[in-house]
Amino acid sequence: MRRIGGADDSVTNDNMNIQEFFSSIIESMPSALITVDGNLHIKQINTNALRISKAVEGEVLNKSVFASFPMLESYESEIQVALTQNATVTLDRVEYINQELNNYYKVTCYPLDAIDNVIVIQIDDITQRELLEQRILQTEKMHSLDGLAAGIAHEVNNPLSAIINGIQNIKRRLDPERIANQESADQLALDLEKLNAYLEEREIKFFLDSIEEGAFRASNIVSNMLKFTKPDTHSREPCDINLLLDQSIKFAIKDYELQNDKSLANIEFEKNFDAALPKIEVLPLELQQVFFNLIRNAEQAISARVAAQEESEDYIGKISIETRLEDGNLIVVVADNGCGMNDEVVRKAFDPYFSTRHKSGGHGLGLSTVYRIIKSLLGGEIEVRSAVNVGTQFIITLQI
Ligand SMILES: Nc1ncnc2c1ncn2[C@@H]1O[C@H](COP(=O)(O)OP(=O)(O)OP(=O)(O)O)[C@@H](O)[C@H]1O
Ligand SMILES: [Mg+2]
Repeated sequence: MRRIGGADDSVTNDNMNIQEFFSSIIESMPSALITVDGNLHIKQINTNALRISKAVEGEVLNKSVFASFPMLESYESEIQVALTQNATVTLDRVEYINQELNNYYKVTCYPLDAIDNVIVIQIDDITQRELLEQRILQTEKMHSLDGLAAGIAHEVNNPLSAIINGIQNIKRRLDPERIANQESADQLALDLEKLNAYLEEREIKFFLDSIEEGAFRASNIVSNMLKFTKPDTHSREPCDINLLLDQSIKFAIKDYELQNDKSLANIEFEKNFDAALPKIEVLPLELQQVFFNLIRNAEQAISARVAAQEESEDYIGKISIETRLEDGNLIVVVADNGCGMNDEVVRKAFDPYFSTRHKSGGHGLGLSTVYRIIKSLLGGEIEVRSAVNVGTQFIITLQI
């Protein structure tokens, strides 16, 4: 501090003011700042650092920095480098579960010029930036997939139409009732009735019907894919979101009752619905699909946590669903206290075909469908926050 002030030691009052001045700068900085000594014990701490550690100053001074900032614990060797080699060390992305959710921090450790064996640890909360980046990445991935899906659907449509038209022509030209067929057969002295009997006998008609049916099915799938990438083909109507949620909960309960999943016998649903929500224009069937998928995933996460058998007897799986209005938007939160996801799973959760449940029948299509409906069809936002063995929250924002 003395060096920074550069003040003449004889001017004690000025010196005090400069110290206060610098202290107030340090206090007002948005970063958390901590100075630690060679034993990594806290010597000074600013208000933002106290806010992150949720401690009071008296409790943390002269104690290990890891006691108040456990997110630094696995980086001890890096912090030691700053101390012993007098070097600045930057940790770009430190993940830490705080208030049951993942938080992200950027940590910079730098030596003090003036004092040996003391370093400053600067912690910046980058959680919002990190979540935003994850969202942008996801949007980009989905946009390119939307384009790809639309492209494939379009290209596959043409050969499919050729197959369907071809089969229908073959069937028409084998029909003995048609005059043109009869005339051609007569010219060749061919008995059309017998030809048809042969086709029946050798099941050729059955094969033709199967090809036609398969081609129709494929064509329906393709046109649904094309519809999905064109939001304006869906019709919106004013809906009571709380009611849609209630219906989705009922579907989901029925679904796990049908599957006779014992681990879900004690599941608890907690509803915190804002009764005063206005009706909003949405796509009711699609939104139900969204809620159903989220609730099913929550149930499966609870089931996985029970199956891991790490929980005490009194663990109760809980799915909490909340609706509220915030800044003119409708917020729906679907939260569970299931197995949670690690960082990598969180990053991939919305990717089509990504599943950690392939073995138990997961296709990895639930969340990508949810994402598409919320983002592309409804123009909303969806965000996920999760922590292993703590739980998961999906937060949907829809404009009213
Ligand atoms: N509530 C949750 N808790 C923990 N993990 C979840 C939760 N929701 C989703 N996941 C993780 O995200 C992955 C992808 O979810 P998604 O719904 O897309 O696929 P799935 O459930 O595996 O299969 P499908 O929905 O197609 O049957 C899951 O496999 C799981 O690992
Ligand atoms: Mg799913």
